[in-house]
Amino acid sequence: MLETDTPATANGEEVPSLAGRTVLVTGATGDGVGAGVCRAVQAAGGRLVLNGLTEAELAPVLKRHPGAVGVVGDVSKPEDAERIVRTATERCGPVTALVNNAGVGLAEPFYRASEEEFDRVFDVDVRGLWLVSRAFSRLLIDQGMPGAIVNVSSVHGRATMDQYAIYASAKSAVDGLTRGSALELGPYGVRCNAIAPGYVHSEQNVHLLGRITDDPEAWVERHRDVEQPLPRLVEPVDCGWAAVFLLSEQSRCVTGQTLYVDAGLTARLYNRASTGNPASAPATVGGPLPDAPDPSDGGPLPTSDLTASTPLAAIGAPSLLEGSL
Ligand SMILES: NC(=O)c1ccc[n+]([C@@H]2O[C@H](COP(=O)([O-])OP(=O)(O)OC[C@H]3O[C@@H](n4cnc5c(N)ncnc54)[C@H](O)[C@@H]3O)[C@@H](O)[C@H]2O)c1
Repeated sequence: MLETDTPATANGEEVPSLAGRTVLVTGATGDGVGAGVCRAVQAAGGRLVLNGLTEAELAPVLKRHPGAVGVVGDVSKPEDAERIVRTATERCGPVTALVNNAGVGLAEPFYRASEEEFDRVFDVDVRGLWLVSRAFSRLLIDQGMPGAIVNVSSVHGRATMDQYAIYASAKSAVDGLTRGSALELGPYGVRCNAIAPGYVHSEQNVHLLGRITDDPEAWVERHRDVEQPLPRLVEPVDCGWAAVFLLSEQSRCVTGQTLYVDAGLTARLYNRASTGNPASAPATVGGPLPDAPDPSDGGPLPTSDLTASTPLAAIGAPSLLEGSL
């Protein structure tokens, strides 16, 4: 097994655990997917190395994760990518798990986007991911160590919507890189998979939805209850648990795959409103929308028992985070 000292067990069976593992998470300073990954990795017993763009952004995150190590750097710069991986190893010993979370979005028709906008998305989401993976993989190969990479893709890698052509093509590239890396790293005992979140419910995303709709709560409720087959909001930590599984020994035969954390969104051809089938109506309606999870409180994330509907204005709020809508 992957340098795990003692396997976590339940009823005599091993359960996913990252005890004894050090996990490097890029772009770990937001309150979205990266925060959920950090939270789940820590809960699974993993040690965290957190990358952020600035010391100031890293400081509060390091406070939330005692014992974690921070490394400042821009993943899209080759020298930074090399340094992030090198520093992580120097400070923590062998780092055998990587989550390529850093990403930026863009909501702009491809025929209007500028070269700078295109380059920025591809520089961070594709080139940066490749640069960090390259440095990480070289280290593992040189040291003859097995390991695992999880790339953060998106539902846009499979299907997309107006204004997302460039972001979608970047995330499709992430899926391709995931498959190809898995083939090339397999002989070295290094696995590579991706998680592909749909709309992730975070405080930041709800706030930013205000830019595209007067009623973010209604948007979120409709998305949950009409667009998603499973009427449950995807929270950052849901992405985190998927990543933990893909990093853990329990997924030792899984590589080259993209795991959709989207409450079934990409499995659907038509939403509930368009089928008009009463059997596919929302199960329940009512109750206020829960507060978006606040990763700083360390408490349990709210479970979403709500329901309702929404025009599909913009799934995959990463672009919202960039304020580009
Ligand atoms: N939030 C969503 O709904 C959603 C949906 C699908 C996919 N995603 C993907 O999840 C990942 C995380 O995005 P998020 O929206 O959850 O935000 P997040 O809260 O995890 O923050 C993204 C982080 O990336 C960092 N970053 C940006 N450019 C960087 C660079 N050059 N070098 C290092 N760090 C950099 C930012 O500082 C930020 O900390 C992205 O890859 C995004 O495309 C998000």
